[in-house]
Amino acid sequence: MAGEIRRRKIALIGAGQIGGTLALLCGQRNLGDVVLFDVVEGMPQGKALDLSHLAPVFGLDFKIQGTNNIADIAGADVCVVTSGLPRKPGMSRDDLVKTNAEIIRNVAKGIKEHAPNALVIVITNPLDAMVYLMQKETGFPANRVVGMAGVLDTARYQAFLAEELNVSVSSVSAFVLGGHGDDMVPVRSYTTCNGIPVANLIKTERLDAIEKRVRGAGGEVVALLKTGSAFYSPAASAIQMVEAYLHDQRRVLAAAAKMNGEYGLKDIYIGVPVIMGKGGVEKIVEIELTAAEKTALHESAERVKQLLAIL
Ligand code: APR
Repeated sequence: MAGEIRRRKIALIGAGQIGGTLALLCGQRNLGDVVLFDVVEGMPQGKALDLSHLAPVFGLDFKIQGTNNIADIAGADVCVVTSGLPRKPGMSRDDLVKTNAEIIRNVAKGIKEHAPNALVIVITNPLDAMVYLMQKETGFPANRVVGMAGVLDTARYQAFLAEELNVSVSSVSAFVLGGHGDDMVPVRSYTTCNGIPVANLIKTERLDAIEKRVRGAGGEVVALLKTGSAFYSPAASAIQMVEAYLHDQRRVLAAAAKMNGEYGLKDIYIGVPVIMGKGGVEKIVEIELTAAEKTALHESAERVKQLLAIL
């Protein structure tokens, strides 16, 4: 008898700005069928209906369902979690901790019950604390619960460097590690323009200024939008991680992963280079850091620990 052929199922928990963009990208990139879940009545159903009408325009054969019933995520291969409040001007990501922790606890229960084998990608801020809570509350193995921040922070660093050098973004390879806060760590020593260290191409003062802008880039968007935070680029960054998993790419990317002694850190989620493939976070890659980078990473980890203490 022929084996069963099954389409992939992607559950998007939170159908707000990022959730809606994720749904669109899942369809466009033919990743599988989508379930869009939110607590607001009608909104996920409305977005799903709208997106289903876009499918014929682009010739996309994907099914999309909007729902307020968490049971509809049953059997999902991947859950991408954006449920929670975004920040407003003047707020730090950390200001969201208590409100969003309650939401994450609630959502974790639903994922554990209905999608026990899924890879869970958390986007909700403050990211490092929320992904830690998600792993704790679901009890899933740490390789199956991962936070999206490093891909986005790295992309922002790449974008600013490409602009400065007036070269293609694809010629710039960068790394940003640490917590997803204003103390994140752009790792200059591993950042190159097609192999040429950026420090050889850009003056130190300019690089300092660019890295400062990378650390504050999320806030820069919030200050301009006034009503919420970035959503196109966070969604795209999570899609890169979904693809790495579903297509078993073994892609090396920066992600918030659970430390078990790596970089001298334990029992904490923080942004580090990982290999993502069919096993989720298959490996945490340990790279040699300069003394200053190491100190910055540990300082960033301290901030994350302070947030965990609040939880
Ligand atoms: N279950 C599901 N969805 C929920 C729940 C819950 N328990 N509580 C709130 N939500 C939904 C809201 O109804 C809203 O539609 O989460 C959605 C969040 O969407 P937006 O407010 O548009 O926020 P967004 O820009 O998508 O950001 C989501 O990601 O980057 C982070 O800081 C950002 O924490 C924020 C999250």
